[in-house]
Amino acid sequence: MNTKKLYIETMGCAMNNRDSDHLIAELREKEGYVLTDQAQEADLILINTCSVREKPERKLFSEIGQFNAIKKPHAKIGVCGCTASHLGEEIIKKAPSVSFVLGARNISKITQVIHQDKAVEVDTNFDDSTYMFSKNTNPDIKALLNISIGCDKKCTYCIVPHTRGKEISIPTQMLLDEAQKLAQNGVKELLLLGQNVNHYGTRFSNPHKPTNFTQLLRELSQIEGIERIRFTSPHPLHMDDEFLEEFASNPKICKSIHIPLQSGSTKVLREMKRGYTQEWYLDRVQKLKSLVPHVGISTDIIVAFPTETEEDFEETMKVLNLVQFDTLYSFIYSPRPHTEAQNLHNPISKEEASKRLATLQARHKEILAQKAKQEIGSIHSVLIENHRDQSPYIWSEGRSDTNRLIKIPDQVLPLGSIVSIKVTHHEGGSLSGELLS
Ligand code: SAH
Ligand code: SF4
Ligand code: F3S
Repeated sequence: MNTKKLYIETMGCAMNNRDSDHLIAELREKEGYVLTDQAQEADLILINTCSVREKPERKLFSEIGQFNAIKKPHAKIGVCGCTASHLGEEIIKKAPSVSFVLGARNISKITQVIHQDKAVEVDTNFDDSTYMFSKNTNPDIKALLNISIGCDKKCTYCIVPHTRGKEISIPTQMLLDEAQKLAQNGVKELLLLGQNVNHYGTRFSNPHKPTNFTQLLRELSQIEGIERIRFTSPHPLHMDDEFLEEFASNPKICKSIHIPLQSGSTKVLREMKRGYTQEWYLDRVQKLKSLVPHVGISTDIIVAFPTETEEDFEETMKVLNLVQFDTLYSFIYSPRPHTEAQNLHNPISKEEASKRLATLQARHKEILAQKAKQEIGSIHSVLIENHRDQSPYIWSEGRSDTNRLIKIPDQVLPLGSIVSIKVTHHEGGSLSGELLS
């Protein structure tokens, strides 16, 4: 039989990963495609793009050229995601080998555009919020679940509101039904997705009973079979006491949280239009740590925003030292089109920006080494996700509810089980431990 083959490359964030899962499922269910990891064998090549910084966007055109050189003669190339939203038909003008362009807000139209010639679907007002969730015929232990699309904030450095449009929440009942289905298919852990998850419930496309993110967490955690709930990203501004208390007291909510800082300087935060101050951020973290002393905190930091002085950068270092983040995603500021900050004069040289990034990352490495030592002897509940066999070594591995990857040597534990592990070793930031129960 001559099955059609799909090759897909995904850049960017968890939301793009979820969109890719959806694209794959739609093409499998409705068009009979199977996945291949060899672009030269594919009948359809999809590039699901990110434009949050300039580098991945620049990479797109060289990738299109490479795919065009190796693809089968009849194979189509489609560009999807945030760069598709942002550049639209310019992509086809610049790279005529591209057959269609499908924006991040329009992915439910994939089965239409593959049959059209040079289709460009990039409407960021399109309400993609109530399309059917992809059929989960390939169930896993963990599942991604979009709870909202778009973003209503106007952070002055960020292109996402331009590529993903206005924020719309997905109706609660749809989310509960989908979570129920996922649980029946064996899913144990949900990762709720949105650019600003704790703004959930502010706008729906249809009339909806008043609700908020804390309420959604409560309702989702009632579903039998769902053992763990994670979410990304919450916005520090909307982390009210009610939310923090639910986070702390609900046993199904994993005790790890991403709290994007962006900058430690109140002045820079104002210029970024983040809506909070250093004091507010530290107050929220302190409250959280008092409620959940072992909480795992990750963050995003941008260095060398055009108005960031050496003193402002020191404020960021101060917050890094005070919070002691468990994971740090750090970036040099990259000017983006359609953003308020794009025209700011930037006096910071590339060398200075790289130096600040290196200083931040080096200090964080020290913090991590210190934290890893403190982990010895601690006890975690771990969801077993994998078995590995690199003869003569075998082990099981999974993530603690604080989101640390932990190996359990010499054990083949049931996939999907949640077990108690005592940490016994750390090596290069990775932890291993022994089974307690
Ligand atoms: N909604 C999320 C962020 C999504 S974008 C939030 O509010 O935190 C992911 C990360 O990319 C951001 O947190 C930010 O740290 C980084 N980022 C966004 N725009 C950037 C830019 N112009 N230059 C460098 N990093 C940027
Ligand atoms: Fe971008 Fe700010 Fe929206 Fe996050 S909250 S996606 S950083 S505009
Ligand atoms: Fe995500 Fe990149 Fe778009 S970070 S929202 S894929 S611009």
